[in-house]
Amino acid sequence: MIKFIDLEAQQKRIRKPLEQRFKKILDHGQYIMGPEVFELEEKLAEYCGVKHAISCSSGTDALLIPLMAWGIGPGDAVFTTPFTYHATAEVISILGATPVFVDVYESTFNIDCEKLEIEIKRVIKEGKLQPKAIIPVDLFGLPARYRLIETIAKKYNLKVLEDAAQSFGGSIGEKKVGSFGNVAATSFYPAKPLGCYGDGGAIFTNDDDLAEKCKSIRFHGTTEKDRYHSEVIGLNGRLDTLQAAVLLEKLNIFSEELLMRNNIDLIYRKNLDNIQVHPKNYQSAHALSSIVFNSIDEKKMMIEKLKNNNIPTTIYYKFPIHLMKAFNYLGYKKGDFPISEKLSKNIVSLPMHPYLEEKFVKKIIDIILKNE
Ligand SMILES: Cc1ncc(COP(=O)(O)O)c(C=O)c1O
Repeated sequence: MIKFIDLEAQQKRIRKPLEQRFKKILDHGQYIMGPEVFELEEKLAEYCGVKHAISCSSGTDALLIPLMAWGIGPGDAVFTTPFTYHATAEVISILGATPVFVDVYESTFNIDCEKLEIEIKRVIKEGKLQPKAIIPVDLFGLPARYRLIETIAKKYNLKVLEDAAQSFGGSIGEKKVGSFGNVAATSFYPAKPLGCYGDGGAIFTNDDDLAEKCKSIRFHGTTEKDRYHSEVIGLNGRLDTLQAAVLLEKLNIFSEELLMRNNIDLIYRKNLDNIQVHPKNYQSAHALSSIVFNSIDEKKMMIEKLKNNNIPTTIYYKFPIHLMKAFNYLGYKKGDFPISEKLSKNIVSLPMHPYLEEKFVKKIIDIILKNE
């Protein structure tokens, strides 16, 4: 049977050492902020080549905490795309700041840098909101165009928060995801390339001051000196020790799994058109493998055909964020972001996980290419 994501096959590989780690935690009993949490943070920072990795309770909190640390709030504009998981925009709204959407490139599905600069200029000219930050999203695992984004951010004095929820393990040239912009946020949701067995996330930065603030916010705004006195408003945003143990074991096999994902992607890429473009020197973490059809009817027909052959698919994302009810208050309308809207209509994600056998990848391709 072909699975969309196969966590079972992966668990078989790590089950024994994982049980040993769980046993150790049950023995030491430090379920919150136990030694595994700090061991993981060290290893994550080393993997990404950054000074600080701060684990936290989810990818959403990993996005929220740096925004809180910067004091983002009402009257501030934060630029991002409408073609992403809605958590990206949600964290901006929670703080009372305003998400300002920018359409994506049709080829990579990531933020269009030309349109980004146009939008920043428009907001400045309008004078109602203060531009503060950009949250580029590394969609489906592919890093956004950070060289250009960082240049634009510098020009307009904006912070960059990389939404790396889907792209842990990706890179541009020698530079790993997690090291772009001022700070990055990843998710360890079970289905992510590096996922735990529950919710989890991490923040990455080279900025010492920001790191300290983020560590404090994730622990109710306290410091190690006194956990019963909050210095700033914070959250319960910590990663559980048990989840850290899962991630430590998965990190041991992560590089190998990334290569396995890469091989599957290469086969899809060689045989299928209209797949997400991966520019030269850009390494995706292959969180998802998505294909864009020419019309909604063609897409529906293809999903049906795959389903009839027991091949699961999903649609990321059925609604661009600006057309979701919760975001109506922003005043956007249909037609505002034509590429995001077109992608939402015509995109389908195909099975993608390290344990997907080559013969099954070929079967999926054959079914898609067969004219019936
Ligand atoms: C692009 C993006 N941003 C943020 C998140 C939020 O992460 P989490 O589900 O861990 O809170 C996700 C998770 O699906 C995501 O895909």
